[in-house]
Formats: sequence, structure tokens, C-alpha cells
Amino acid sequence: MIQTTELFVDREERGQRYAYIILELFVLVFWPLLVFTALLNLFEPWLSIPVSLVVLFWPIIKRRYADIIAKENGIKDPRHAIRCSSFWFDGFMFQGSPVLRQIRQNAALSKSLDVIYNYFGRFNIAPEGYSENWWNESGPSQLVNTLIKKWTDFWCCMPIAQDVRSRLLLVQKEIETSVLDIYLNTGKEEISIVLLAGGTKQDVIMASRTLLNKIPNLKLKVVCVEPDGKFAVSRSKKLAQLLNLDTSIFVDIFKQICVDEGKEQLLCDVLAEKKYVFSDFDLVICIGLGDYMFGNNLNKFMKMIDNGKKIITANISDNYVERFFLHLLIHWPAMQYLSLAQYKAALLRNYPNRTIRITQTPHRIFNVAVIESR
Ligand SMILES: C[S@@+](CC[C@H](N)C(=O)[O-])C[C@H]1O[C@@H](n2cnc3c(N)ncnc32)[C@H](O)[C@@H]1O
Repeated sequence: MIQTTELFVDREERGQRYAYIILELFVLVFWPLLVFTALLNLFEPWLSIPVSLVVLFWPIIKRRYADIIAKENGIKDPRHAIRCSSFWFDGFMFQGSPVLRQIRQNAALSKSLDVIYNYFGRFNIAPEGYSENWWNESGPSQLVNTLIKKWTDFWCCMPIAQDVRSRLLLVQKEIETSVLDIYLNTGKEEISIVLLAGGTKQDVIMASRTLLNKIPNLKLKVVCVEPDGKFAVSRSKKLAQLLNLDTSIFVDIFKQICVDEGKEQLLCDVLAEKKYVFSDFDLVICIGLGDYMFGNNLNKFMKMIDNGKKIITANISDNYVERFFLHLLIHWPAMQYLSLAQYKAALLRNYPNRTIRITQTPHRIFNVAVIESR
């Protein structure tokens, strides 16, 4: 039963979704149009049309080119084979923005999310690897540096980036509410959480800090199943230390789960290998991973993260227009977009007879669902 669907209000983000979308469209379509108009005045349409189409589809062409270079040079991830995807994203002013490059080259990984979460410092945390004045060393002159900074600000403020930060805050609040609820209703002193694909764990770390400030004798144990044993784990340790948390709260299992037919590596099995019993955990959190589950895999995934207790999960919903920027310019891997109605249907199908509360991020790009225990 879906109990409520609410809209999360986040006054710290800029909003202005439609203004951004118009500007983004202007950026992408304006450039080829300008080339087209200029060429049309100089040459015949047989030349101006194909050249303009090449300019329009340049980011896609560049992506294919990256595949070839990566193959030739033995580079594992083709996104690392090119310096920039387009002049209009991370190649701006020919110097490029290192921040935007990091977002594109690590799209869907925690290194990219760390920049999106912390670029504006709204959680009083700086992204890893950037000084406050990072743009001062970006280009050959102060004017170019300032332009690169403004350009980076623009893309880091695109509605989906705003909603990624709002989702972080919303998930943090949902974790706090759920843990408090379990603590008050069960009288348990130690609450155990499974965090699947948690990346740098920033949501859980921020929630743990607030919870331990409120209830100093609360004991938290967070078992994290996450394959990234490099950036994500070192960054999460730094975040925990920054917030004065005892890092022994967090136990890392560097494994990835898989629900593909014949290749199953389910969460309960990964936990069992390390002698944990999935049903013993009080709360399961998995944000973002379900967006990469297509077709029936999403049902299998939803069932896999259910141990009968509380679940906090999320999906990416309609994000028309901007999704093209995300995949074309930023080279973000393909995602399963499900509208709120489709997501509700999937939740009801996989968690029948459970109370479900959904909160949408301010631009309605993400839905965060809290599924109550059986
Ligand atoms: C899906 S996002 C989620 C990030 C995080 N939950 C957050 O909200 O910031 C990226 C993370 O998923 C992890 N990941 C990707 N595929 C995975 C898999 N099959 N099993 C477990 N984790 C996975 C990546 O290593 C990365 O850290």
C-alpha cells in the first residue's frame, strides 16, 4: 500500500528547472545552428548541412572515437581515452574544466558523485582533490579561469545535479528517521544496517553523525557491499574522520552483486560468505543501483534487497530533455527511467502488503521510497 507521496522542499538549491533546460538546449543546439547559418551564407546546403550535423552529433562521434583509441592503447574505460567530450561541456575555453572532466570520466561512480555532492560545499565538505581556488590554475589568464569557473558552476547546478544533492539530504533524513524508529520501537541498542552500492557512504555517514549526537549510547553497525575498494573506501574513511565518527562502525565487503540470469551473485550470498545473516539486519539501504537494472532484473533486484525489514531505496524518474545532455555530453551510462507511476507499480508488485512512503526530489527527478518491515 502506498501511503503517501510527497515532494521534498530544498531551499538550498537554485531551482529554475525550465530556465536551465532552455539554456542547456541553447548550448547544444545554438552552436550547430550558428555554424549552419554561417556556412549557408558562404557555401551551398550540400556542404553546410553535413558539417552542421557533424557539429551537432560531435559528442556521439567523439564517444565512438574514444572506443577506438581505448582499444588501440589498452585503456580500460573509453571515457578516459579522450580529454573532453565536447567544447560545450568539459572542453570549454579549450583549457577545459578539470571538475567537469572528473564528472564525465567517472560518471556513475563515486568519484563523480563526490564532486556533484560537494562542489558548492553545501554540506560543509569539500570534494576530494580540489582546493577552494581550483580554477585559478585552470587556464592561461584570470579571465579564462573565471569563465571556466562560471561554466563549471552552470553544469554543477543543472537540475539533475541539484536533485542529486537533494536526494543525498533526503536519504540522510530518511536514514535518521528509520533508525530512530527502530531504536524506539524495538529497544535495540545496536542497529545493524546493510548498505549496498553505497559509494563514499556520505548519506549514512552524515546520518550517523546526527544520530549519535542525539543518542550518544546508540550503537550502529553498517556492513557495506561495494566493489570500489579504492576511491570510495578511502574517501569514506576520510569523511567519517572529518565528522568524528569511529570508523569501526563501517565494515566493507568489496564485492559486486549481480542479478543476471545464470550469473547471480545475490546480496544474501555475498553477506553469507562473510558469515552475516541477511535477515538479522534491521535496515537495508540501496540508492542508485536499481537505475542500472533493466526489464525483469529490476524485479529480481527489488526482491534481492528485501529481508523483510525496512528498506530505503530510490529510482530515477522522468528527466526529459536533460537526460540527453546526461548521456550525450556527460557520457553517463544508460539508465532505466521509470515514471513515478511505473515505479509505484514496481514497488507494489515486489513488496505487496507493505506500507510504502515515497518522497520526490524537488525537480521530481528521483523518487526515494521507504518500505516498512513486514
Ligand atoms: C549506483 S551509484 C550509488 C552511489 C551511492 N549509493 C550514493 O548515493 O552516493 C554508484 C556505486 O555503485 C557501485 N556499484 C556499481 N555496480 C555495482 C554492483 N553490481 N554491486 C554493488 N555495487 C555496485 C559503484 O562502485 C559505485 O560506488
